[in-house]
Amino acid sequence: MSGRIPQSFIDDLLDRLDIVEVIDRRVSLKKSGRNYTACCPFHDEKTPSFSVNQEKQFFYCFGCGAGGNAIGFIMDYERMGFPQAVETLADTVGLEVPREATVFQEEPQQKKNIYSTLEKATDFYRQQLKTHPQKSRAVDYLKMRGLSGEIARDFDLGYAPPGWDNLLKAIGQSNENSQLLIDGGLLIDKPEENKCYDRFRDRIIFPIHDIRGRVIAFGGRVLGDEKPKYLNSPETTVFHKSRELYGLYQSRKANRQLQRLLIVEGYMDVVALAQHGINWAAATLGTATSTEHLTKVFRLCSEVIFCFDGDEAGRRAATRALESALPVMEDGRLARFLFLPQGEDPDTLVRQIGASRFTHLVDQAQPLEDFLFESMAANLNLNTLDGRARFSKTVTPMINQLPAGIFKELMMTRLAETTGLSTEKLAEIQELHEASKHSEEVSAAPDSKPTPEAANPVQRSSKPSPPEATRNPILYAIALLLHEPKAAKKIEIPSSLEHNESIHAPLLMAILELLHKRPESTSAMLIGRWYGEPWGETLQQLLQLEQFISEADLEQELIDTLSYLDQLHQRTKLDNQVDKLLSKDYAQLSEEEKTLLKQSLSDMHSK
Ligand code: GTP
Ligand code: MN
Repeated sequence: MSGRIPQSFIDDLLDRLDIVEVIDRRVSLKKSGRNYTACCPFHDEKTPSFSVNQEKQFFYCFGCGAGGNAIGFIMDYERMGFPQAVETLADTVGLEVPREATVFQEEPQQKKNIYSTLEKATDFYRQQLKTHPQKSRAVDYLKMRGLSGEIARDFDLGYAPPGWDNLLKAIGQSNENSQLLIDGGLLIDKPEENKCYDRFRDRIIFPIHDIRGRVIAFGGRVLGDEKPKYLNSPETTVFHKSRELYGLYQSRKANRQLQRLLIVEGYMDVVALAQHGINWAAATLGTATSTEHLTKVFRLCSEVIFCFDGDEAGRRAATRALESALPVMEDGRLARFLFLPQGEDPDTLVRQIGASRFTHLVDQAQPLEDFLFESMAANLNLNTLDGRARFSKTVTPMINQLPAGIFKELMMTRLAETTGLSTEKLAEIQELHEASKHSEEVSAAPDSKPTPEAANPVQRSSKPSPPEATRNPILYAIALLLHEPKAAKKIEIPSSLEHNESIHAPLLMAILELLHKRPESTSAMLIGRWYGEPWGETLQQLLQLEQFISEADLEQELIDTLSYLDQLHQRTKLDNQVDKLLSKDYAQLSEEEKTLLKQSLSDMHSK
């Protein structure tokens, strides 16, 4: 088994390559200003939002959020793993890839084996639907649910026949294979009872695909009324149910350009909708819709419609979905809520009213902003001051979850109108709120990226100034360094950074340390250094902040940002001190303490 590729080699390789050449060989690029552009190879589009920056040796797409260095491009474009991508690129410049000796190389191959085992199982279940002596029970059930053979094929539906060892016998003969079936979640292993048996028995099988089309898990439904009605694969190394959506792969495949995605609750809903031509639906897998789900979906299309039952439980689920959606509602994205009549789900409803009336309901679904204001005002009397105060108290933090942009501003305005409090007053409340949280994390989660002006119908009125623009000096400093690693040269690592509680502080420290050690590092090397790790993800997201970075004097900008960070730290320290003083009797304070208190109050005033 081959070992890890040394980082120094990867740096050297990136240094010798020109990303423009690498990409141009696969996707024809056009020069446009300082960058090269093309229609993005990772999503369908008519106008180019894919951009390659030769100077910094990376690419990114404003449309779908893909981005990275030459290695990342090859991985995504050629659909290969990191080591293969490095091999491919090394070939083009005639380099041999060296390997470090290590024991930690098992996982990728292990994963590959699981994928291929799950593929085999999919074939097996599909085959059983055609050939098993009891197949007609399954076929009749699917027919009874109104599904055609064609739709069953599109979704790779299958049948796990009755019995404890069908799959085990068909695929798991050797120890190695049965272990893979266990690791893939298809066999239940009880060594203490000396038992190992098929998880899915006498059930309709719904294979769950990841966005690349690999089968990663299964759902299984009983043919009758037995319990449990549905059984899902457990969490495995290839399946994390809170991240996946059933039918997303098929929706993407069925639509050249996915315009919008309907998020429903059940497997059958997805399949029945597709059967009626609504082939742009996906279902969560028995979990609430998470921000992770939505990050994934918004890379593929700009509109999401959540579909819920009209009952109390449906409303509660909708509120949870709303909360997950807020951090990813960048300008240009839409989210809406559709509540179905009591007792109906998309499957029963579409069969009753047909696709065009169903689509009409979707078209009329309630926009996120209306749902937010309406549901948060429920049970409050906005005619009273108290009601309005409570309202603003729940809604303000929700709006604060929105990424900076026009939409957020509009929501603030609407809140001001609803409560009668001025936007300035609300902004003040918001500022206090943020200052008390070290101004961190609230509005600039690593996965929030501003929509570029070019791809955005709503023009931003002016370029926001640095720390306010991102509301997170640490992320801004990282973005600056990513943009211009040389700027680190004259910078000292701020002493407050070590004590900063931001989750991004360690990354900023690491970058500064790396750049001090290796001042010649390029942006691509920084990306490459943490490729495939969470920090790498953060860096990729930050690439897209480029539009916020003032071109003027990056070095000064960085110095200012870091000193602002220090100030912020000082201020929080001071705030804590002042807080303590405030809780004491004024007359008992020393002169020094009195001065400090007076000063801090007059500071607050002049702000
Ligand atoms: P049918 O129309 O009855 O086939 O089911 P459905 O797709 O409408 O599902 P339902 O609305 O009952 O449930 C929605 C989703 O919740 C299903 O698709 C499953 O993901 C999940 N679910 C429902 N029942 C069970 C269960 O008994 N166990 C588990 N683990 N999940 C379930
Ligand atoms: Mn149903």
